[in-house]
Amino acid sequence: MEYRVTVMPGDGIGREIVEGAVKVIKKIEEKYNHKFNINYADIGGIAIDNHGTPLPEETIEMCKNSDGIILGAVGGPKWDSLKGEDRPERGLLNIRKELGLYTNLRPAIVYEPLKNASPLKPEIIGEGLDICIVRELTGGIYFGEKGVKEDGTAYDVLSYNEEEVKRIAVKGFETAMKRGKKLTSVDKSNVLESSRLWRRVVIEVSKDYPEVELNHMYVDNAAMQLLINPTQFDVILTMNMFGDILSDEASMITGSIGMLPSASIGEKYGLYEPIHGSAPDIAGQDIANPIATILSAAMMFKHSMGLPEEGTAIEKAVEKVLNDGIRTRDIHTDSTKLVGTEEMVSLIVKNI
Ligand code: NAD
Ligand code: IPM
Ligand code: MN
Repeated sequence: MEYRVTVMPGDGIGREIVEGAVKVIKKIEEKYNHKFNINYADIGGIAIDNHGTPLPEETIEMCKNSDGIILGAVGGPKWDSLKGEDRPERGLLNIRKELGLYTNLRPAIVYEPLKNASPLKPEIIGEGLDICIVRELTGGIYFGEKGVKEDGTAYDVLSYNEEEVKRIAVKGFETAMKRGKKLTSVDKSNVLESSRLWRRVVIEVSKDYPEVELNHMYVDNAAMQLLINPTQFDVILTMNMFGDILSDEASMITGSIGMLPSASIGEKYGLYEPIHGSAPDIAGQDIANPIATILSAAMMFKHSMGLPEEGTAIEKAVEKVLNDGIRTRDIHTDSTKLVGTEEMVSLIVKNI
């Protein structure tokens, strides 16, 4: 089969890690006899530099004409003084909105050989950790009215309507049905009106999923529970900003933010991106961990292309390399072999 893939490296380490994902895609092409037509597009800071906008029209068009989209990361100090609407991050927010990518799946898995790279004590991780954060991605405080008043007061409005909550709740329960059938809905309904709506709608949707065990947790408690008892979770369903914060926290349990892939999915399109940012502090040094982006490509094969075997082959190759004790700097410990970004990529490619 032939597939079109749009690749957006973005800024900072984006180029290095996305190059790794492209090599993996090419290996899958060769091994499984597919054809992937890869096209590159600008987004974020590089798009500001080249086109004067963080999300050029042609990038949107290319994304809409593809079967799968890979994104590195956007942003960096060079563009930090720009106004909100002009910033690189706006490009990412706008492409999510433009493509209707309201579901963001962020799986956090502690790989057996990485148990000792986690900052949590081994007894807290126990048999292992395998959770999935289902984050609402195109609503909430990220997309509410915002501005600065004449007196200098700045505001960002947090609102959700019933339909927005319902459709992400359905995705949360569907995800739970395919996994451990346990769903924790995280909100702040003791304080926020939008969270009270959230909880009510989640309870309504739960009636269609009697097999799923549902519980509710306030976000502050959830942040704490992730550290003291992370294995109690199977699926965490939450709104845009809470999901952003909790997924960075969950990523560190797995050893590094460089390990966590994500899938941003709507009714029609799928964009696959690591959860981390452009890491300006380590860009261009061949030390970034490419695994989050490579695992994001695996998610693309599974969720957007109906190629689960190919996705699993990538995951198995990552596991093999980790089992062999190969590590980038962020997950390196005394007894393991330290490699750079490129070498990590070629070892994963070799094992597919
Ligand atoms: P960050 O995720 O870029 O970096 C946080 C820390 O994690 C840094 O110390 C970095 O070196 C490390 N890190 C991140 N990815 C890594 C990897 N693959 N391997 C090894 N270490 C890694 O977050 P930040 O520093 O808060 O933000 C930097 C820029 O990235 C900002 O402009 C921010 O807006 C942007 N950002 C973009 C995205 C995205 O494009 N999806 C996500 C988060 C932040
Ligand atoms: C992420 C990032 C983005 C977000 C930013 C860069 C807009 O932090 O993908 O987690 O907050 O969603
Ligand atoms: Mn984030």
